[in-house]
Amino acid sequence: MYSTCAPRSNEWTRSPAEFDFRSDTVTSPTPSMLAALSNASLGDDVYQESTTTNALSTRIAKLFGKEVALFVLSGTMGNQLCIRALLEQPPYSVLCDHRAHICTSEAGATALISQATITPVIPRNGLYLTLEDVKKHVIISDDIHYAPTKIICLENTISGVIHPLDEIKRICAFAREHGIGVHLDGARLWNACSVPSSPSLAEYAREADSVSVCVSKSLGCPVGSFIVGSEKLVAKATHMRKLLGGGIRQAGILTAMAEVGLDEVYLAGRLEESNVYAKQVEAAWVRCGGTVTLPVDTNAVWLDLEGRGVSLEIWQQVGEDIGVKLGGERIMCHFQNSAEAVKRLEDVMKEACRRADTVGLGTERGGEDEVASKSYLRSKH
Ligand SMILES: Cc1ncc(COP(=O)(O)O)c(C=O)c1O
Repeated sequence: MYSTCAPRSNEWTRSPAEFDFRSDTVTSPTPSMLAALSNASLGDDVYQESTTTNALSTRIAKLFGKEVALFVLSGTMGNQLCIRALLEQPPYSVLCDHRAHICTSEAGATALISQATITPVIPRNGLYLTLEDVKKHVIISDDIHYAPTKIICLENTISGVIHPLDEIKRICAFAREHGIGVHLDGARLWNACSVPSSPSLAEYAREADSVSVCVSKSLGCPVGSFIVGSEKLVAKATHMRKLLGGGIRQAGILTAMAEVGLDEVYLAGRLEESNVYAKQVEAAWVRCGGTVTLPVDTNAVWLDLEGRGVSLEIWQQVGEDIGVKLGGERIMCHFQNSAEAVKRLEDVMKEACRRADTVGLGTERGGEDEVASKSYLRSKH
């Protein structure tokens, strides 16, 4: 039997993520990443025989100024391995921003894997945690009612906002003074380090005991994160990775792509493009009479849809009509968007505002609860 199917369009040459603003996780492997597969080592990484993985891990450790790096399957796994490795014996707790991924979006893994409770803190400045926030909520006490803080988990960027290095230094000095470990969820630390005159990855990493950084966001890789830290910490994390079923056999297939992402996206300065797109998106929204709810430091733009009278229902519908993928009020730009995609997003904004001005937000609100309950609008990953 011969297939009668027409040849499929080849998504390997043009990213399917071009008109997708839901997240930077939608970036997809570039042709040179796929080409790199043919040179990947096929050694077994559980036996530490993946030369591609070993070489990249050494490079990543150097880039972050830490002793060792370990490739793991996801940002969630990276965070949870670091948290587990920093902790010993409960009772204890982890302090973090209330929006932190470990608090909102890791399915309660910290409770399950590390038996730790979380102390979620709302930053007083509305942007990022300060030492004053930490001091107010940290638990340093022998009182048997409490679970003492043993880790402060920072996230940078946090909702696209850069956590300034000076503030991180203040918090980490305090943590060290009190024997509290610091984990940095640096899923998007690449983005924080892609703005003019930013500190380096190593300067941020120096402050923390462990850092996790994703190659599956913004860089275009399909899978994976690295964690970095001391030899002792990473040895414990490697053991836990195996326990959780995260040992990877021919990991070189994945790390060969990660290496291209590092060289041809991050080090080539391509994340700066996503920051430029984000500024253009903000400007377009302002032209429509809108405002943003957080500063646009990097690649995330938080639109105040409600403030402009645009319901989520209208927003999503217009996105579908015009052919732009949207995830609610957060616009996430990435290097695989294009000038054409930003222009099309502006068309969405204009049309959504036109429809909202015609029908009024009040009329549409009936449907808003239903739409807001859909998980794709709530997911912020
Ligand atoms: C800040 C942050 N940390 C960690 C993660 C988890 O990454 P993964 O989806 O690879 O588990 C995400 C995912 O979006 C994230 O946004």
